Amino acid sequence: MNHFLDLHRTDPASLRAMLDQAAAMKAARAGRPRGAPDDTAPLDGRIVALVFEKPSTRTRVSFDVGIRQMGGQSLVLSGAEMQLGHGETIADTARVLSRYVDAIMIRTFEEATLLELAEHADVPVINGLTNRSHPCQIMADLLTFEEHRGPIAGRRVVWSGDGNNVCASFLHAAGRLGFDLTFTGPEELDPDPEFIEMARAEGATVTIARDPAAAIAGADLVVTDTWVSMHDSQTTKERRHRLLRPYQVNAALMAAAPEALFMHCLPAHRGEEVTDAVMDGRQSVVFDEAENRLHAQKAILRWCLGV
Ligand code: CP
Repeated sequence: MNHFLDLHRTDPASLRAMLDQAAAMKAARAGRPRGAPDDTAPLDGRIVALVFEKPSTRTRVSFDVGIRQMGGQSLVLSGAEMQLGHGETIADTARVLSRYVDAIMIRTFEEATLLELAEHADVPVINGLTNRSHPCQIMADLLTFEEHRGPIAGRRVVWSGDGNNVCASFLHAAGRLGFDLTFTGPEELDPDPEFIEMARAEGATVTIARDPAAAIAGADLVVTDTWVSMHDSQTTKERRHRLLRPYQVNAALMAAAPEALFMHCLPAHRGEEVTDAVMDGRQSVVFDEAENRLHAQKAILRWCLGV
């Protein structure tokens, strides 16, 4: 049994194996209707709880569809409607769910909730996003990059904007899979220094740059995300927008990296962190990226369950 809690908590060989399996499983079902089962049914007889304490479109639908394609069943649960949201401890919730289901995916606020759930669960726990990281998203992003451009190792990724939880998982991936990451954004919103040091200690070059055009020049991949994350207070919105406006990914900025792909985990706020011209432009692979949540997570589930 393996928990999938974060990329820096997962060994590089396992990450590589999951990415390769995701690509193979995607290729094997090319052209099939979405609801058609895979050739094999590795989740036959398995049931997975999908617990959401925050909203979701992609994570919810891609996990649910992926489980069905692999012959399993899913239960989508709202944290607010569970006893978890009304005082039952995380540890007791973990013990109870472990008696009913074969794996638990959770989207929650605090990383501590995820870790406590994993500590007390007898079944694999998957991180579907916390305030601190979003590893399933980055597995999909890596899969997407490699299907368009080949191996990610040795490439240069530029993150423009807020050094948030998705950026954190990119830093974890840079260390594990050997690519360089440049963060360009305002100092106040720099990524967690602990994660920068972690990536550097594993051999990745991590650069902090304040000039977005200079940072993006020569990039293989440009990534951004919403300026106000789900866990950020709306009272900071105006200030964050003011700080982040110079880091909007627009056509003028992308012109500095004409060969780069553009990614965004979505949902995008068009006209804020990214313009329509970039979202819908030739460099954008955002909908491949969204699709690849499905394929990447199917491989993650198989790795967690050892099937
Ligand atoms: N990117 C992502 O996690 O999307 P959802 O919030 O819709 O799940």
